[in-house]
Amino acid sequence: MSQISRRQFLQGGTLFAGTLALTACGGGASEDTSAQGADETVADQSATTDGAAGYTTVEAGKLTCISNLFFPPFESMNEQTGDPEGFDIDVSKSLAEHMGLEVNWLPSQDFDTLVPTIKNGGKADVAIAGMTITDKRKEEVDMSDPYVDSNQSIVIKSGTDETAETLDDAEKVIAVQSGTTGQEWAQENLPQATIKPLSTVIEAMSGVQTGLYNAVVCDLPVSKYQIKTSYTDLEVIEEIPTGEQYGIAVSKDNPGLLEAINSALAAMESDGSMAAIEAEWFGSAL
Ligand code: ARG
Repeated sequence: MSQISRRQFLQGGTLFAGTLALTACGGGASEDTSAQGADETVADQSATTDGAAGYTTVEAGKLTCISNLFFPPFESMNEQTGDPEGFDIDVSKSLAEHMGLEVNWLPSQDFDTLVPTIKNGGKADVAIAGMTITDKRKEEVDMSDPYVDSNQSIVIKSGTDETAETLDDAEKVIAVQSGTTGQEWAQENLPQATIKPLSTVIEAMSGVQTGLYNAVVCDLPVSKYQIKTSYTDLEVIEEIPTGEQYGIAVSKDNPGLLEAINSALAAMESDGSMAAIEAEWFGSAL
């Protein structure tokens, strides 16, 4: 898919400076301290396969992760090996390391199935998927402390001269990834347009490239990366400051795990692991 390597991409300079601000967790304090206190009580009472750790995992000794692996640079599959790779994959490895677990990635699934899978339990421990923390998702699952700040973007084919105004028209088709905050934004802000939910952002961008769709609405760091590495004939016409933050989804039945993830995220901030991952994928610790 990508025509230039990640390193070449990084040599392109600090593309993301100012557009992708990675959240400094500063000790990982949760806003909702009362809920955390309650979580602790439950965790202490629950019988766990991991004993002293205070939480259960679907496979003993492993942090089993799910995502939609078509969202570079956060997650994708290596072109040669098919293995998951990306910012979130490195985050998962470091999290697991900090928790004394092995990391275990399951095959990619549709983004809109991730929250239900975590909610239902039994298959995976966490969804790490560039997933925006939203109130709606927090009704279904717990979300960790934020680890990345992100925004939305509108992407068109260069030269088609579309604007947010011309796109808000019944004749115009806006491609989005199904179940994402991009879909929500498009539905709310381009109410006249026809919104087309697809299973991946890659499909959406390819469709804009071939003229099937008039625009894509998706997370800005992903559209910038994709335009730089693969879809050079597309352009971002609008950066939308939605102020989203990514978190890791954990089952509400596993409060001890949420707590352990938040502690590991805080440790990764303070020991430089997060900065190293940011440097690896975004050129510098932001
Ligand atoms: N941040 C957006 C959301 O939470 C999009 C995430 C898409 N992630 C993915 N791995 N495909 O809705």
